Amino acid sequence: MSFSKIGVVGLGTMGAGIAEVLARGGLPVVGVEIDDAALTRGRGHLEKSTGRAVGRGRLTEEGRREILDRVALTTAFADLAGCDLVIEAVPERLELKRRVFAELDKVCRADAVLATNTSSLSVTEIAVSTGRPEQIVGVHFFNPAPVMRLVEVIGTVLTGPGHVGRVADLVAGLGKTPVVVGDRAGFVANRLLFGYLNQAANMYADGHATREDIDTAMRLGGGLPMGPLTLMDLIGLDTCLEVLEAVYRESRDRRHAAAPVLRELVTAGLLGRKTGRGFYSYGEAEPAREP
Ligand code: 3HC
Repeated sequence: MSFSKIGVVGLGTMGAGIAEVLARGGLPVVGVEIDDAALTRGRGHLEKSTGRAVGRGRLTEEGRREILDRVALTTAFADLAGCDLVIEAVPERLELKRRVFAELDKVCRADAVLATNTSSLSVTEIAVSTGRPEQIVGVHFFNPAPVMRLVEVIGTVLTGPGHVGRVADLVAGLGKTPVVVGDRAGFVANRLLFGYLNQAANMYADGHATREDIDTAMRLGGGLPMGPLTLMDLIGLDTCLEVLEAVYRESRDRRHAAAPVLRELVTAGLLGRKTGRGFYSYGEAEPAREP
């Protein structure tokens, strides 16, 4: 592969999933988190996901150990100095991402490529916060990263020749399928997907059908692995809102004007599976409730 050591900044659901994909591909990974508590959570994601693969007979315990050993966990950005590619996967706040990139610019090798896993922010705005905008790309994985086969690779008007191709080759070498897309809010997949998800949220709030029937209709009628409300709970309702707001800002298309019910759930802190409740409830003893 054209990269030999890869850094991942942020080990939440997406970052840990990306680190796992890279380590499964045999690459040494440096995983960075902000503090020890976040690092412990990141390690937990990696252990849970690889443990699940062992439980299903898809991975041996020894294979699991090798994958986990390939990921060096640290809270020091300086440990990224030896990486030739760093993928940032911190929360979707432009100011935070720009700060992370400014820091990466200081500690990373001059020839290192820096990538953002943003799902909705402008890669160009992130690129111009560094002194190496020609080496900045977007690399957009889907949730859950170890399972989903698509990765969007995004070049900006500033990206130098060759970098997008190198990253796309890496993605293909990891067994995923890359598509190369321009720097437009939502790229391709989210731009198409979120109009539909938003419509499902509006239909649910309007009492068009129950949440279960909306989900069943699309799962069985649309041949999809999950219905839209279940999928939004998986993605995280905060992320859904962020993607919709970013796409709406650019498109001004009312299909992307966030459903009020989505905003209401996010304000209430009901963010989906990760908080135990969103459109559905996930508490063990708790019966499913309407939001
Ligand atoms: N981490 C690692 N592996 C996981 C996983 C996770 N979080 N969730 C499921 N898996 C694995 C399982 O181990 C299993 O693997 P195996 O076949 O090798 O044993 C396989 O995936 C299937 O899992 P399950 O049998 O438990 O469950 P399902 O068959 O219901 O599949 C699913 C779960 C893969 C999540 C499937 O329902 C699905 O594909 N849902 C749609 C997901 C989707 O559309 N994601 C894109 C969201 S948009 C996005 O991410 C963009 C962002 O910018 C917002």
